[in-house]
Amino acid sequence: MARPITTAILFAFANLMAVAVANVGAAGRTPEPFPKAQAPQSGYVGTETCVGCHDNYDTTLTPTKHGFKGNERTPMAQKGCESCHGPGAAHADDPEKVKPVQFPKVAADVANAQCQSCHNRGEHALWDGSQHENRNVKCVDCHSVHSSEGATLMRAKTQQLTCARCHQAITNKQQRFNHMPVREGALTCSSCHNVHGSVNVKLLRTGTTVDQSCTSCHTEKRGPFLWEHAPVVDSCTTCHDSHGSNNERMLQAKLPFLCQRCHVTSRHPPTVYEGFTLQNSQNANKLFGKSCANCHQQVHGSNHPNGKFFLR
Ligand code: HEC
Ligand code: HEC
Ligand code: HEC
Ligand code: HEC
Ligand code: HEC
Ligand code: HEC
Ligand code: HEC
Ligand code: HEC
Ligand code: HEC
Ligand code: HEC
Repeated sequence: MARPITTAILFAFANLMAVAVANVGAAGRTPEPFPKAQAPQSGYVGTETCVGCHDNYDTTLTPTKHGFKGNERTPMAQKGCESCHGPGAAHADDPEKVKPVQFPKVAADVANAQCQSCHNRGEHALWDGSQHENRNVKCVDCHSVHSSEGATLMRAKTQQLTCARCHQAITNKQQRFNHMPVREGALTCSSCHNVHGSVNVKLLRTGTTVDQSCTSCHTEKRGPFLWEHAPVVDSCTTCHDSHGSNNERMLQAKLPFLCQRCHVTSRHPPTVYEGFTLQNSQNANKLFGKSCANCHQQVHGSNHPNGKFFLR
């Protein structure tokens, strides 16, 4: 739970460091020298040449994990700027005519291939063919390398704001009366989704079904139960909205209407209007407060021998 907060604090710290580093530069102290290991390869000119014209671009990297300092042996340090922007000799000779890789301008697959040259395993193994890749979303639509505002090089301050650019309707559900605690920081979008690709539906991190995703956290709802409730087995989203709704417990509809979508007749009139009189306290129960759930407390399934009607 505390993880995103910790990350935020760490990031705030990283920002302070960035300021600190910039100040050191301004005070005239020699900045950390670039690693000498830059093997002269055809087409490459090395970081020192790039920063000769592009002042301070190196310092934007320093506070991030892309910083060269301390990473002298990594490919990043060895090719420096050119590990992302590609060989830059021709550009350095004639900057007006030849451009290195300009991430916002080039095609998505070209831009992404630069990043994938290093990030292609684990969490990222399924990028190719993923919903985002298919729709030409770029790494840099969500991440910024030189001027990120959030943790993990997020382009905007939070994940939610980053996603909002394209998924406004979903992120707006955070403003609803009941919502997954993303706004509060207890969860992030990536608690449930791996936006870099997944074998599961809807880029879900866990579970080949939505139910398995939900019960990976809400384990007590996993079952199997002695008495199963058909819609629960089918999908949690039959009754709950995954992101938020204006009803209690993120329900898709208010009680009793939620139940009445399916239960139109039963031994006791399930429709509150049917034979409903104010004097009849049993019926009144069906309308007020937790409504049907006052009596049917185990709507997710019951393990009680007499739990057929989910009353216990
Ligand atoms: C001789 C000076 C010089 C050197 C050396 C140089 N650049 Fe440039 N670079 C420029 C100029 C000038 C522009 C702007 C060109 C324009 O707007 O037409 C530019 C543009 C760029 C852009 C595109 C910026 C945009 O507008 O989107 C990138 C990216 C870039 N350079 C990266 C690099 C990298 C990486 C290196 C080292 C391999 C490098 N440059 C070396 C002068 C230089
Ligand atoms: C880890 C990959 C990576 C490295 C390393 C990197 N860049 Fe960039 N660069 C980017 C991306 C991505 C962008 C697009 C803007 C953004 O996302 O911040 C960019 C944008 C730029 C621009 C265009 C202006 C702008 O802000 O949009 C220039 C110029 C530039 N980089 C120069 C450099 C120089 C000089 C270095 C080496 C000190 C360097 N870059 C190292 C990924 C990288
Ligand atoms: C030359 C290799 C290399 C390239 C190219 C590269 N990266 Fe990285 N990147 C790294 C390394 C190394 C780390 C640090 C990994 C770690 O600490 O686990 C990293 C970390 C990151 C992180 C995590 C930062 C954090 O704070 O946790 C993000 C996001 C990222 N890279 C995005 C990108 C994007 C976007 C591009 C393309 C514009 C890119 N990278 C290109 C090597 C690379
Ligand atoms: C739709 C938005 C989005 C896109 C597109 C995206 N990312 Fe990410 N990325 C995220 C989010 C959100 C996280 C934070 C995940 C977490 O909680 O660790 C993240 C985390 C990362 C990390 C750090 C986690 C790790 O693997 O160690 C790296 C590296 C990274 N992304 C690289 C990339 C690269 C490379 C691409 C393009 C191939 C890319 N991302 C495309 C949203 C995005
Ligand atoms: C630049 C736009 C863009 C950004 C930013 C973006 N997405 Fe997406 N996302 C898309 C597109 C386009 C699709 C494909 C939609 C489709 O096929 O209907 C998609 C699909 C998805 C899907 C799968 C939907 C499905 O039907 O399977 C999920 C989940 C998702 N995005 C989550 C996120 C999250 C979480 C973030 C923020 C970390 C994010 N996206 C940021 C454009 C974006
Ligand atoms: C508690 C888990 C959870 C969290 C947190 C979460 N999602 Fe989802 N998301 C789901 C599930 C489950 C689905 C698939 C079922 C559905 O469409 O309701 C889904 C579906 C989606 C879709 C596809 C919608 C469609 O109509 O196909 C997008 C886009 C999406 N989520 C984006 C986001 C964004 C952006 C965030 C962060 C603000 C986020 N999600 C946070 C569980 C989650
Ligand atoms: C990554 C873990 C995680 C996943 C996956 C997850 N949840 Fe949650 N859920 C939480 C947390 C944390 C809360 C907030 C609990 C609290 O405030 O007591 C919560 C709250 C809820 C609530 C409101 C509970 C209340 O007391 O108001 C409901 C309903 C709920 N989740 C249903 C679902 C459904 C349906 C899914 C699948 C679409 C799902 N959850 C997936 C972690 C998760
Ligand atoms: C038939 C409709 C229905 C389905 C399907 C359903 N729920 Fe619920 N759920 C409810 C109702 C109604 C409540 C409120 C009960 C109350 O207020 O006593 C609730 C409450 C919750 C709560 C918060 C209170 C608690 O009991 O912890 C969580 C968490 C939850 N559901 C998770 C899930 C998960 C996970 C699934 C899928 C495995 C699921 N629900 C499927 C109707 C449903
Ligand atoms: C999406 C449709 C759907 C929704 C919504 C739904 N149910 Fe059900 N319910 C079913 C189905 C299907 C059965 C199994 C009926 C059967 O076996 O004859 C069932 C069975 C039951 C039973 C046991 C009946 C029996 O004869 O075994 C009870 C009690 C019940 N539901 C109560 C509720 C309550 C209370 C709600 C609202 C919180 C609710 N249901 C919401 C579809 C639904
Ligand atoms: C005052 C308590 C109470 C309330 C409120 C209540 N029920 Fe029931 N319900 C019961 C009892 C007790 C049974 C078992 C009846 C039996 O054994 O004949 C039952 C049985 C059922 C059954 C299964 C039997 C059948 O006839 O199909 C369904 C479905 C059902 N209720 C749905 C609902 C719905 C929907 C609501 C809300 C509109 C609701 N109930 C409100 C007490 C209640």
